[in-house]
This record gives sequence, structure tokens and C-alpha cells, in this order.
Amino acid sequence: MKGMIFTNFIELVEDKFGFKMADDIIESSNLPSGGAYTSVGTYDHTELLELVKHLSEATGIPAEDLVKVFAEHLFGTFVKGYPQFFDAVDNCFDFLNSIEDTVHVEVKKLYPDAELPTFEPNIESDSKMTLVYTSKRPFSAVAYGLIKGSASYYKEDITIDLEDLSTPDFTRVNFTLTKH
Ligand code: HEM
Repeated sequence: MKGMIFTNFIELVEDKFGFKMADDIIESSNLPSGGAYTSVGTYDHTELLELVKHLSEATGIPAEDLVKVFAEHLFGTFVKGYPQFFDAVDNCFDFLNSIEDTVHVEVKKLYPDAELPTFEPNIESDSKMTLVYTSKRPFSAVAYGLIKGSASYYKEDITIDLEDLSTPDFTRVNFTLTKH
């Protein structure tokens, strides 16, 4: 998994819980990289799962909630780093519709070793869209946070329901989005 995901996560931990907490979870996690992440590096995604697990234990906040908040924070970094993808469309459904065929395609050109999930979007009406997430990694909570970030970016009130199609590991999930 790309280093920018890890540096972003550590930054958020430092911001919200302090430098000591960031050091503590790095120390207590089993990290082949040693926890010295750079944005251009590539690291095993299980290191992120380890860090989240230890942060969850230390804070008492469920891991899934931590990952959703992290993804919303990551979304802010995407907005700053890749404004062209957000300017290309003017609403959340069209943006989410463009991830598979445009956004992640460009990401793959920039980072050929990126391991991206696949999305099958389907805009059913002005107020309803489904998005099926499939990955080798159990990061549907990341997708949830990024979808939430997209809705607030376009200032839309969207309810997100999710159904695990791969029970029990959340590697294939159907998101149903309802716009109010
Ligand atoms: C401009 C917007 C976006 C950019 C630049 C971007 C870029 C990236 C990058 C660099 C990764 C890491 C790949 C790796 O580490 O190997 C990633 C992973 C991921 N992206 Fe995107 N992304 C964007 C929008 C989105 C949105 C809106 C969603 C949700 C619908 C999404 C869902 C995911 C998920 C869930 C992963 C984690 C990998 C996995 O689940 O297998 N991305 N993306």
C-alpha cells in the first residue's frame, strides 16, 4: 500500500491524539518496516491494520470508526493533491461514478505499484446510486469514509447503507446511496 496512506494516518494520530500516542502505537505494533514511512514508499497493508488495532486498544474507539474518520481525513488530502478530479464534475454521484474509469486509472499511471480496489457504479436515479466495492483487502470502511467525504465536498445530504456481499470479511460490499 502506498506510503501516502501511512504518512496521512500517522499525521492524523499525531493531530488528534498527540505525538506520544503515535510513537506508542508504532512501538507496540509488529511492523516489518519499523514504522518509518515516506510518502513515496510502499508498505504491506497489514501494517495499517496493526496500527489501527493498537490505536483502537489504546483509545477504546472501535477500529471501524477510526478507519472511517481516517478516510475522511485522507479525502481532504486527495482534494488538495488532485483538484482536477473534483473540478471535472459538479455532483457526488458523477464523482463516484468516475473513480473506476478515471480517478483510479490516473492513480495507477502515477503509482504503477498501487493496489487499488475495483468499483462497479450504477446511478439508478437522481436520488439513488449503488457502488459495489471489491478488494483483496478489507478496507470497505476506507471506502465508506471517502464516500462520506465526497458527499460533504459537494455539499449533498446522502445516506450511505452498506451490505457485506463477502460475509464476513468486507472485501466485497454493496453501498447504496440515497440523496435527500
Ligand atoms: C481524487 C480522489 C482519489 C485519489 C487520488 C485516490 C487514490 C488512491 C490511492 C493512491 C490509493 C492507495 C493505493 C495503494 O496504496 O496501493 C487508494 C486506495 C483506495 N481508494 Fe482511492 N482515491 C481517490 C478517491 C477514492 C474514493 C472517492 C473512494 C471511495 C469510493 C476510493 C476508494 C479507495 C479504497 C477503499 C482504497 C484502499 C485500497 C483497497 O480497498 O483495496 N478512492 N486510492
